[in-house]
Amino acid sequence: MIGRLNHIAIAVPDIEFASNQYRKLLGAKVTLPVDEIEHGVTVAFIELPNTKVELITPFGKNSPIARFLDKYPSGGIHHVCYEVEDIIAARDKLLSKGATFLGNGNPKIGAHGKPILFLHPKDFQGTLIEIEQS
Ligand code: CO
Repeated sequence: MIGRLNHIAIAVPDIEFASNQYRKLLGAKVTLPVDEIEHGVTVAFIELPNTKVELITPFGKNSPIARFLDKYPSGGIHHVCYEVEDIIAARDKLLSKGATFLGNGNPKIGAHGKPILFLHPKDFQGTLIEIEQS
């Protein structure tokens, strides 16, 4: 069912500093940070030849990643995102196999303008998994 790795998301306390570290130390191409108001995060993309890494930091109050940074103040890998062809078909198949989704199980539109869902980390060895319709 799962297709390509779409991105890995890393939560960071300071997105400007993190972006510059990737630029300066690794020679990475990093986009300018964009506020994703409805998702409560600010995002910058590290563009790699085969995938991308998203640097994410909280935006506003009630950010979904605020608690993660409370737990890991210096930052860390927050989730991995796999592509699926049809998100509703993937969701229904996963539900029928006993997987749990965060929220109400209805896809939201993610940072790339495509429908996304998050699977509960308890089903995947503590890793938060995002699926995105390709
Ligand atoms: Co993501």
